[in-house]
Amino acid sequence: MATALLTGAAGKVGKYVVGALGRRGFDVVATDLTPNGTPADVRFELCDLTDANAVRRLVGLVRPDVVVHCAAVVAPVSYAEPDLSEAVNLGGTQHLIDATLSHAPDAFFVFISSCAAFGPCGPQDPVRHATDPCYPDDNYGLQKLTAESWLQQSGLRQCSLRLGAVVDVHDLMPRHSSYRPFVFMVSLDQPEHGIDTRDAARAIAAAAVVQPDGHVLLIGGDDSWRLPARQLRKDVFGAVGLALPPERAFRQIPNPTNNTGWFYECWMDTSNAEQLLQFQRVTHDAFVAELRQEHRAQRMLTTPLSPAVSRALAVVSPYTGKKAITPWATTWDDICRVYDVPPNVARARSSKPPPPPPFDPPGRGLR
Ligand SMILES: NC(=O)c1ccc[n+]([C@@H]2O[C@H](COP(=O)([O-])OP(=O)(O)OC[C@H]3O[C@@H](n4cnc5c(N)ncnc54)[C@H](O)[C@@H]3O)[C@@H](O)[C@H]2O)c1
Repeated sequence: MATALLTGAAGKVGKYVVGALGRRGFDVVATDLTPNGTPADVRFELCDLTDANAVRRLVGLVRPDVVVHCAAVVAPVSYAEPDLSEAVNLGGTQHLIDATLSHAPDAFFVFISSCAAFGPCGPQDPVRHATDPCYPDDNYGLQKLTAESWLQQSGLRQCSLRLGAVVDVHDLMPRHSSYRPFVFMVSLDQPEHGIDTRDAARAIAAAAVVQPDGHVLLIGGDDSWRLPARQLRKDVFGAVGLALPPERAFRQIPNPTNNTGWFYECWMDTSNAEQLLQFQRVTHDAFVAELRQEHRAQRMLTTPLSPAVSRALAVVSPYTGKKAITPWATTWDDICRVYDVPPNVARARSSKPPPPPPFDPPGRGLR
């Protein structure tokens, strides 16, 4: 049985990847800073990826056939904690690449990246393809793009999966305080490509089996998931019985025709990824129906309070709250002010990834 080492196994996506890898026939070794939420019958090894020795020990112990690297400090936590973000998203990834080269050089490395690597994208922009040039302007997107390029140059067999906006019927609003202002910092007209967590996990596990060496694949739901942020926000707020806060509480783009003012979410061409990995099962309508069913009781309690909650939420918005700011030219400008990001945490940069090599299935006999 092939062994898969999965980082970030206790995270929103990783929790589902544990099961998806198991169903594809892998012997899974899960690792994270905490075992919380990982199944008791799955081997768990505690490891802080910022500790190079610990990572070397872990990979030497497990000697995996596949490394699935899900761990990260995600946006907007990366904005509130830029040093930690750099240490984990760059340092941690480098440690894992180095340890894999030393102890499991034949392993296939699946890196979980993000559409943030593309950089800002407005509603007028065309659908993104994996070979499009990238211009990330925030630390998170820059770190994802940099880690992809390190992996591409490492000599390991590898692929990067750029995920869209992952949504989970059970996990609507992460606990970290950085999410509260952030909800308002993405324009309601921002194109977003959603995907159900289970489909994202299916894609990741399939990549561990198919091993599309050298590819960057775009992982979003089917075409029903290409939506403006307004719709995805309405789905979530509506499911728990809340109306959307007033439009003015959300970022208004100073010059909507200039894409640098928008956030990094985008609509993606997922056809190549779907052809290789066959992961798109949950439509947007099916997701919303399940979401509403899941939160039925909460919705009945919350609906009468909706106008008051909506007003209270607008107070947390950086655009209408006590310390309201006027939107500047780019979302990153606003992020720097709201999270007090020190200068030079992200620098402008562009890159065009190399075209993917011809696909050569490894035929390892896994389902
Ligand atoms: N959630 C999304 O919408 C989304 C979108 C695009 C890409 N992604 C990517 O998918 C992956 C999983 O995201 P998620 O939503 O599950 O994030 P998450 O924050 O829920 O999980 C990340 C996990 O990484 C772990 N981690 C952080 N620092 C670590 C360290 N020093 N050592 C070991 N583990 C550490 C955390 O404990 C956590 O369990 C990430 O790489 C993320 O960038 C997520």
